[in-house]
Amino acid sequence: MIRADLSTLPPYVPGSLNGLPLKLSSNESSLGPLPGVTRAAAEALASANRYPDMVAYELRSAIADWLAGPSSLLLDAENIAVGAGSSALIQQAVQATCRGGDAGDEVIYPWRSFEAYPILARVAGAEAVEVPLTPDHRNDLPGLAAAITEKTRLVIVCNPNNPSGTTVTREELITFLNAVPSDVQVLLDEAYVEYVREDGFPDGLGLLADYPNLAVARTFSKAYGLAGLRVGYLVGRAEFIEAVNKVCIPFSVNAVAQAAAVASIGAKDELLARTDETVAQRARVLEHIPEDWRIGSEANFVWLDLGDRARAFEEAIAGYGIAVRCFDGEGVRVTVTDAAETDVVVEALDALAPEFFPRR
Ligand SMILES: Cc1ncc(COP(=O)(O)O)c(C=O)c1O
Repeated sequence: MIRADLSTLPPYVPGSLNGLPLKLSSNESSLGPLPGVTRAAAEALASANRYPDMVAYELRSAIADWLAGPSSLLLDAENIAVGAGSSALIQQAVQATCRGGDAGDEVIYPWRSFEAYPILARVAGAEAVEVPLTPDHRNDLPGLAAAITEKTRLVIVCNPNNPSGTTVTREELITFLNAVPSDVQVLLDEAYVEYVREDGFPDGLGLLADYPNLAVARTFSKAYGLAGLRVGYLVGRAEFIEAVNKVCIPFSVNAVAQAAAVASIGAKDELLARTDETVAQRARVLEHIPEDWRIGSEANFVWLDLGDRARAFEEAIAGYGIAVRCFDGEGVRVTVTDAAETDVVVEALDALAPEFFPRR
């Protein structure tokens, strides 16, 4: 017999091409892996008859050494979990904290935010509690704290937020963390942290020592250009990481992904330098959105708050060959990549602005 509650679960809608030449619907990098990364992946592929290292020791150690370096964090492989994308780790975090069944354990998260949150929470059997964004499209941290009850097991904060691109400040995050009971786990989702350039943005990793109930999720899918290989990581206290690893499907991060991620850490300077181009193009895209409609973004996408004209905008920009991610009745998210692709975007925005971005 199939679980009845699955019939009410919203489907995950992946960004698609819709037959168009320019895919700006999934917040991917337009650039492929570096040659050294491809080489490491190919070498691992040659041993595909063997199972991968189940505990991903080399990768977890490489992540620990990498992150501990600049921030003098006390990190070890036991503070790092890796998963088949940070999506898998978010689901494991729910499974590690919420009991499922009739327990009524709650996961609180901002909304609209990463569209997988409600799915991951509910598949794991948790009650999903959504806290609307503030009117300026940011995570409502006081609202998230106020929603905590004795049933709350996990609170997710998305910084920068997908799809709005907005951030919360270090002060706001600290005030929030001080308000969260120490037995409630907080998961800070920093999937887009490499694109942040604003002052006052909180370094989630730097807060781990002061807040043992905090964990930080990041991914190799965006800035590191490995979305197709599925590898993300979670940093936190050893006890929580151990619990997250216990609910992992064995061998879920394959050997090719592990090798590519280790090689990407080795090439991190070159890979991170690529984000400067995206950040420059983001400023360019924002300049082509009339001020009344401009929502500052610190991620590799911009959010157009079009409300019930979102679908019409998606159709109109398809006329320029661009596939975007439309949230019907809410808005449209446009991924920002490189200069050549942005040329097409700004041309479309200029042409569509009179119709879609009137003064308000
Ligand atoms: C906010 C946020 N978190 C997590 C993820 C998951 O990324 P992945 O599973 O590819 O690591 C995404 C992907 O779009 C995202 O937007």
